[in-house]
Amino acid sequence: DLPWRRTRDPWAIWVSEVMLQQTRVEAVREPYRRFLQQFPTPSAFAAASDDELLSAWRGLGYYRRARLLRDGARKVASDHGGAIPRSVEALGELPGIGAYTRGAVASIAFGHAEPAIDGNVERVLARHRALRGDPKNGAVQREIRKVVLGWIDAQRAGDFNQALMELGATVCTPTSPACDRCPIAEDCRARREGLTAVLPERKAPRAAVLVTARVALILGPRGAVGGRIPEGEPNHGQIELPGAGILQDTAEHELAEVLRQRFAARIQVGGTVANVRHAITHHRITLHAHSASLQALGQLAWFPLDDQTPWTTPSRKVFRAALGTSGDLRA
Ligand code: ADE
Repeated sequence: DLPWRRTRDPWAIWVSEVMLQQTRVEAVREPYRRFLQQFPTPSAFAAASDDELLSAWRGLGYYRRARLLRDGARKVASDHGGAIPRSVEALGELPGIGAYTRGAVASIAFGHAEPAIDGNVERVLARHRALRGDPKNGAVQREIRKVVLGWIDAQRAGDFNQALMELGATVCTPTSPACDRCPIAEDCRARREGLTAVLPERKAPRAAVLVTARVALILGPRGAVGGRIPEGEPNHGQIELPGAGILQDTAEHELAEVLRQRFAARIQVGGTVANVRHAITHHRITLHAHSASLQALGQLAWFPLDDQTPWTTPSRKVFRAALGTSGDLRA
């Protein structure tokens, strides 16, 4: 029983599927509700400004998804009179809709017998059919699609696809799958052949890169001092606490000089007041926030500590750590 399973509105389903692609169900609930309240139709979101988009997507990360979703919403508004097209082909032509999202919206909202193959489904199929090779590989993908097409319940394609994903997420898990609770364990080849631990044969993930980043935390009646992230850097358009950038290792004694060079700001840097952790793709970041006193803003500016200002998630984590959880700032 999930909020996006209580609707057949294709826009709500599209939004939920984009949010769920890189984010856990629990972290999606609240942003999903808030987003649809603010943007109940594709046309409403098509008209969103960058700041509105960033604010509406806060807490979810991977903001590129939100920009692509807006590209798709704009196309729906301009080419389809605001109504999401019902055919699999037309859905697939919308910007930002790849094979997975196309299958999810087509099956869940419109009842088409179209597979929706995410990483969970890939794992279930790789095991059930003992498929060798990386499931992202083209030949393996085609085999998975063929098997799912053979299984899919044409009367309840959306339920079928969601059940298969959920089987992967909750039973056929990456490590220690619960085969004793699996409804299709009986004819699972990986189980019979003792291969559940080695399938799927995924390519080794990129090694984690550890980063120690630092920012200056300057608070005042007008909020905090921050800078807008320029085009070409991750999370561009958002506001971050001043530093060398979230992916840059910075030594404590370098911070004041970085702020001078990057923003022409003059800031005296003191001790750390908050330490937070954040992960972006394969980067594992430890972010130290330093107390600081401001002598000259340079290109920095004061930004309010509210939900409308598109502070980055790591910045919000710093505010929460430094100021406690009483404010309305949520990551
Ligand atoms: N993961 C992403 N979307 C899902 C859905 N609709 N049901 C189950 N798992 C999902």
